[in-house]
Amino acid sequence: MISTGGVDARFIYLSIATRKRPNDPFLLVHEAGQTDQTVGDVRKMVRVLILGAGGHARVVADAVLSLLPKRESLELMGFLDDDPELVQKRILGKPVLGSLADLRNIPHDAVVIGIGDNETRRRFFVKLSDQGEEFATVIHPRATLARDTIVGRGTVVFAGAIVNTGSLIGNNVIVNTGCTVDHNCKVGSHSHVCPGAHLGGTVVVGEGTFVGIGSTIINNITIGEWSIIGGGAAVIKDVLPNNTVVGVPARELPTRPLRTKPDTRDSGLSLFD
Ligand SMILES: CC(C)(COP(=O)(O)OP(=O)(O)OC[C@H]1O[C@@H](n2cnc3c(N)ncnc32)[C@H](O)[C@@H]1OP(=O)(O)O)[C@@H](O)C(=O)NCCC(=O)NCCS
Repeated sequence: MISTGGVDARFIYLSIATRKRPNDPFLLVHEAGQTDQTVGDVRKMVRVLILGAGGHARVVADAVLSLLPKRESLELMGFLDDDPELVQKRILGKPVLGSLADLRNIPHDAVVIGIGDNETRRRFFVKLSDQGEEFATVIHPRATLARDTIVGRGTVVFAGAIVNTGSLIGNNVIVNTGCTVDHNCKVGSHSHVCPGAHLGGTVVVGEGTFVGIGSTIINNITIGEWSIIGGGAAVIKDVLPNNTVVGVPARELPTRPLRTKPDTRDSGLSLFD
């Protein structure tokens, strides 16, 4: 069962809790034993494809490759991207194998969506879920997760990130380099917690929200879905859905676009043709 919508924390939790049988192949790709979560059968070979080949995809690849010394049964097949100039190039030694439409022709067991824009990543996640794709959850070996943390499908947690006890991270989330998510937080699906952002205890981040680089959200704050927190902001009161806030303390930008701008590379959604 895959849930992709859901803006309230209870729904996010359920979307993770309805994971299939514990030994199902490969919902989680990380260093075995790092947390109490089900890691799947670590002996089974898992071939991972990364969708997208831009900057974010590269960091995803680095996280997957960092797992290889500890997990011989993992293989990074390469990338798919609709930019024809990238096809046949290599990134971190791995090939860009074709366009996104080639997904069905390339052998793989799981995908990770290496696209930074939240709305584009959400659309891919929904579409691929409908097609029955399995998502790898990638946790860099130098990320630190409390033992009871729950992390959803297709979520990536990068180096130096810390997720503290009692926290729930939804599906298809980016928990970026060196950010911290303190105890009992709930981070909605398709969100992005940018590098160096800090969430205090019991913060709720709605679905699709962009928590900008170096921002700070004090404890007990709720941020509505699809909001944007500007880089360096200090959020000291709740943020309504679809709002952009910036500054210290954070204030609304009255006439701003409600979404991050998609990377032009992300607009070529040939997968949906
Ligand atoms: C918040 C943000 C999305 C707004 O972008 P935008 O809609 O293009 O806004 P603009 O650049 O037109 O700025 C609008 C106003 O807000 C101010 N502003 C924008 N971002 C700000 C920020 N982070 N902090 C304080 N003020 C900010 C601008 O100075 C400008 O003020 P003015 O109207 O008085 O001149 C963007 O500035 C931002 O902070 N992005 C974070 C990026 C990030 O974290 N990247 C990491 C990726 S891993």
